[in-house]
Amino acid sequence: MISAVCRDYSRCCQLNGPAPLPCYTCYRELAMEDTASAKQKIEELRRAINYHNHRYYVLDSPEISDAEYDGKMRKLRQLEAEHPELITPDSPTQRIGAPPVEAFGVVEHPEPLLSLANAFSYEDLAAWHRRVGNLLGGRHFDLVCEPKIDGLAVALTYVDGLLVTGATRGDGYRGENITQNLRTIRSIPLSVARDAPSRFEVRGEVYLPKAGFKRLNEERAAEGLPLFANPRNAAAGSVRQLDSSVTARRPLDIFVYGLGWSEGKAVPDKHWETMQYLTSLGFKINPNVALYHTVEEIESCYRDWLDTREAWPYEADGTVIKVNSTALQKELGTAAREPRWAIAYKFPAIQGTTRLIDVGINVGRTGSLNPYAIMEPVQVGGVVISQAALHNEEDIHRKDIRIGDTVIIQRAGEVIPEILGPVKSRRTGQERVFHMPGQCPVCGSEVIKLEGEAMHRCTNAACPSQTLERIKHFVSRGAMDIDGVGERLCQALFEAHLISDAADLYRLTKEGLLRLERMADKSAANVLSSIEASRSRSLARVIFALGILHVGEEYAGLLAENFDSIDDLAKATHEDLSSIPSIGPRIADSIVAFFRQQGNKDIIEKLRAAGVKLERERAEGAKAEALPLAGLEFVLTGKLESFPHQEAETRIRALGGKAASDVTKKTSYVVVGRDPGSKVAKAERLGIERLSIDEFLHMLDGGHPPS
Ligand code: IVH
Repeated sequence: MISAVCRDYSRCCQLNGPAPLPCYTCYRELAMEDTASAKQKIEELRRAINYHNHRYYVLDSPEISDAEYDGKMRKLRQLEAEHPELITPDSPTQRIGAPPVEAFGVVEHPEPLLSLANAFSYEDLAAWHRRVGNLLGGRHFDLVCEPKIDGLAVALTYVDGLLVTGATRGDGYRGENITQNLRTIRSIPLSVARDAPSRFEVRGEVYLPKAGFKRLNEERAAEGLPLFANPRNAAAGSVRQLDSSVTARRPLDIFVYGLGWSEGKAVPDKHWETMQYLTSLGFKINPNVALYHTVEEIESCYRDWLDTREAWPYEADGTVIKVNSTALQKELGTAAREPRWAIAYKFPAIQGTTRLIDVGINVGRTGSLNPYAIMEPVQVGGVVISQAALHNEEDIHRKDIRIGDTVIIQRAGEVIPEILGPVKSRRTGQERVFHMPGQCPVCGSEVIKLEGEAMHRCTNAACPSQTLERIKHFVSRGAMDIDGVGERLCQALFEAHLISDAADLYRLTKEGLLRLERMADKSAANVLSSIEASRSRSLARVIFALGILHVGEEYAGLLAENFDSIDDLAKATHEDLSSIPSIGPRIADSIVAFFRQQGNKDIIEKLRAAGVKLERERAEGAKAEALPLAGLEFVLTGKLESFPHQEAETRIRALGGKAASDVTKKTSYVVVGRDPGSKVAKAERLGIERLSIDEFLHMLDGGHPPS
């Protein structure tokens, strides 16, 4: 049998019409293709898609990029549309996501959770817009444009104002019951205003902010656990935990993007108004959501977001464009499990290929041997890349990456570049399989790999690389935050033998510093005053700065709440530590072992002798009224450099202050970052004091507000 497929095979975003009509989505002419070869191609595509589905949904560990996956799915849809006789019920096109995992319990979705068709170019978008216009007989329709968040779709059901069920999308009809896990996400309201509909379902995307993803992977690397490939997999892995206390520790967030269904009360009849309505009920909506009239406006919004999305604190892989009127949405209906009234206009994937020249190894502060790729420099999305993290030996072997391979690399937002895998067809036979060395490449000591750990470790605690990394960690932002003492200066000081551990920083003199190349009088004075200021950091920061294995920022905070001083913590037994909720035996072991080591005891004594505060401040752990920011209300606007708003707000609250979103007469300070919004003008009108980022950070560190 001969039938037709769209000639614009690689780009057309939807199904084709039968021959001899043009493709009904992109209106391009159709070409002819023969069934036998189509059958073979369909089978190949199904096998590949099923394999990648399993890696993505079940193992949370994809091997190919979304763009490649979308490409395969698109080709399969295309072929099946052209050869409907070849469609089988088990084809990956016949379901939306993965079937639910039974262990969670299954939730039936009263209204299916649909998928979205994709557009990859302005032509695709304009074709969709034209098609919607045609279907609506030329009537005007407004559009809402939203970032397409790269996370996990969830449906939240509220009955009589209370959250009763939270579910994953699953296969669109049946999802997993993950209510307990979703209840741990602070931005999901557990109850809503009384005048809300008696029963309704809200839909949204749970995601892990970029900063949280980075921190989570750093902690996992330090613990020798496998890393998450991207924020979406990390979010999915975090939400689909059978133990909800694990979910609770992950900094998950949500953006709600629509109402699934509702009963008992009229709701707005426009998507745009629904979003405002959901905000009024207490749901978190993406602040970028915008209403437009024309497809040109949508294109310019898309272009704007292409430029600004790297600065967003979350990953977005495109925009979602929706017809605003719900009445028109109903008229347009659904085709092939995708609504005709919405489309995902994807951002281009930032990928490239280059040659893997070698694998280098860094030795981390806990002794972990961290392999990284050394590659021929290549431009990916405007940035030259020559190195990428390789995580661990197992990961390299799992992806079958060999030295000499041509590799596919991907840069996603601010996430460090990543090697997706080799291009096996380009192999010459000269490629070499990588093996971790038996000796530390820095100090030559024995390397071991503990049972159940992914990382190889250098066994010498005095390994110069470990020591230097510990110093770098000590001065870093979340730790003692010694401004002006960055990684490079640590290295220079260490190599010049001016310091041999972190405590030596407090013994530095101006004369010593001036011996370093390119160190002038003024910068030496600045360095010394930053070091001086760090003597009175909080106990939580000191505990984190010590670099105890498995004790990240979160656990350090928890320990500081439970112990009055480093000495008390050092005296704690395994039982004392394990009695603290969320401190498990592994962390307790690690803390006890840390304080047993003479080298660590010596550093603590040196820090004490240098006048570093090793006790809890009065304010830490005291009642809210006694906290330094008690009674003050802050409003943040603009980008606070590498400090996400959410983190700043948590810090304000921890110090007893209030973080508000709107400037009112009650506001005490407006913190003004880069590219601030209209809040600055409003603050001016109301005569409210402004703070620069530095002034704000100074206050967070216990300093006085500017007079
Ligand atoms: S609307 C019928 N809006 O994208 C409308 N989805 O490919 C379907 N997503 O399952 C959902 N951000 O997980 C919508 N602003 C947004 C979204 C969004 C992310 C995800 C969602 C959905 C998938 C569809």
